[in-house]
Amino acid sequence: MNSPPRLDALLRPRVPSPLREVHDERFARHGVGLFLKRDDLIHPDLPGNKWRKLALNLEAAAGRTLLTFGGAYSNHLRATAAAGRLLGFPTVGVVRGDELAHRPLNPSLARCAADGMRLHFVDRTTYRAKASPEVLEGLLSLFGDVEVIPEGGSNALAAQGCTALGRELAGACDVAAVACGTGGTLAGLAA
Ligand SMILES: Cc1ncc(COP(=O)(O)O)c(C=O)c1O
Repeated sequence: MNSPPRLDALLRPRVPSPLREVHDERFARHGVGLFLKRDDLIHPDLPGNKWRKLALNLEAAAGRTLLTFGGAYSNHLRATAAAGRLLGFPTVGVVRGDELAHRPLNPSLARCAADGMRLHFVDRTTYRAKASPEVLEGLLSLFGDVEVIPEGGSNALAAQGCTALGRELAGACDVAAVACGTGGTLAGLAA
C-alpha cells in the first residue's frame, strides 16, 4: 500500500500526478522527448515529494504528535505543519540554529507556526547529533510520547511511499532525473 485510503479521502491528493511534455528544440533536434512529472500538483500544501513521503508516516502516527527536523527554510517542516493543521494532530519542528530563536521568524517558519507547529530551536552541534540516543531522549523528555520522523521525512515508510513514483513512470521514460537531498525520494523511485 502506498497511499492510505483514509488519508486519500481526507486530503484528496492528485495521484498519479500528470506527466507533461515540455517542447524544447534543443532536445527535439536529437530525437529526445522531455517530460515533467508534475508532483507539484499533488496537493497545494503537500506538494512535490511531500505527499509521497509523508502519507504512510501520517497513517502510522495515528494522530499522535509528530516531531521532525529541518533547517530554517525546510519544505519538509512546512508540509508536516500543514498536514498537522489539515488532519488535526500536533506537530513539533526541531529547527537547526539556536540563534534563530531570538530573531523574527522567516516566512517558512512563520507558516509552520501559523499551522500550529511548535518550533524548538537547537544549536548546530545538537542538530548534527539528532539521531543519537542522548539527543532523542532529551527531545522525548521535553515533548513526551511523540512519533519521530527524520530530517527530510526520509525513513523506510517515505521510501515505500515514493515507490509509487516509479510505478507511475514505468514504461513512460528511459531516464528519470530526480532532485536529491536526503535521498529518500530517489531510494523509493529506484526501488
Ligand atoms: C521538490 C523536491 N524534490 C526532491 C527533494 C529531495 O528529496 P529527498 O530529501 O528525498 O532526496 C526535495 C527536498 O529537498 C524537494 O523539495
